[in-house]
Amino acid sequence: MTPPRFFGLIPAAGAGARMGAECPKQYVPLAGKLMLMHVLDTFAFSSKIAHTFVVVSAEDGYIEEALSGAKHLDDRVTVIFEGGASRHQSVLNGLLAMRQQVGDGDWVLVHDAARPGLTSGLIDRLIDAVQSDEVGGLLALPVVDTLKRGDTEGRVEATVARDGLWAAQTPQMFRYALLRRALEQAREVTDEASAIEALGLRPKLVEGSPRNFKVTLPHDVALAELHLKGDA
Ligand code: C5P
Repeated sequence: MTPPRFFGLIPAAGAGARMGAECPKQYVPLAGKLMLMHVLDTFAFSSKIAHTFVVVSAEDGYIEEALSGAKHLDDRVTVIFEGGASRHQSVLNGLLAMRQQVGDGDWVLVHDAARPGLTSGLIDRLIDAVQSDEVGGLLALPVVDTLKRGDTEGRVEATVARDGLWAAQTPQMFRYALLRRALEQAREVTDEASAIEALGLRPKLVEGSPRNFKVTLPHDVALAELHLKGDA
């Protein structure tokens, strides 16, 4: 039996409206490179990743130019022009489009294009911790702040115990057939682990890093650049 391989799947078909940028946020320049290119380079340079698929919207007008200046990615990355109306749908479309190249037992690492702070060390940490697991797992961070639930007037309704709480990050890593079945059966979910949980399974939590945060608001750009420039 051939050992399972590891594939990257990057949903990058969002508009990123909260960024208020002129282009979708995955194409915002950060430390001299577009946000999405940081992510694709990290996956491409990881020796464990066999190939990476990126899902963009059918109308995407940026990816071809971005890749034309990155010849080193030619045989490492495949673009799928089939983004959906939600992240869930974009990931599922990606899984369907890559089915010829990937076996049921191969692992798929789904990673947000909006998390440019990922490193190959974090990919290795996730793979090492999860590759012999029955279910799969995800990077996540234990919650350190005291949590408040607010009411509609912006006042504290309750303090929520943070014991055992983790903030989910990506990559989230599951075997191809299980992930596809989970996403086909799930109601709309905001991450892959939720779809796996809906099958009654318990994904493994692997400690991620604060630098792997999701760039969402305009002021996140400066923080992301700080991390990425520190790497140069
Ligand atoms: O909007 P948010 O930051 O939660 O998006 C997370 C990731 O999902 C981003 O990489 C975004 O491009 C992607 N996405 C997608 N298709 C959508 C919405 C979001 O691929 N319809």
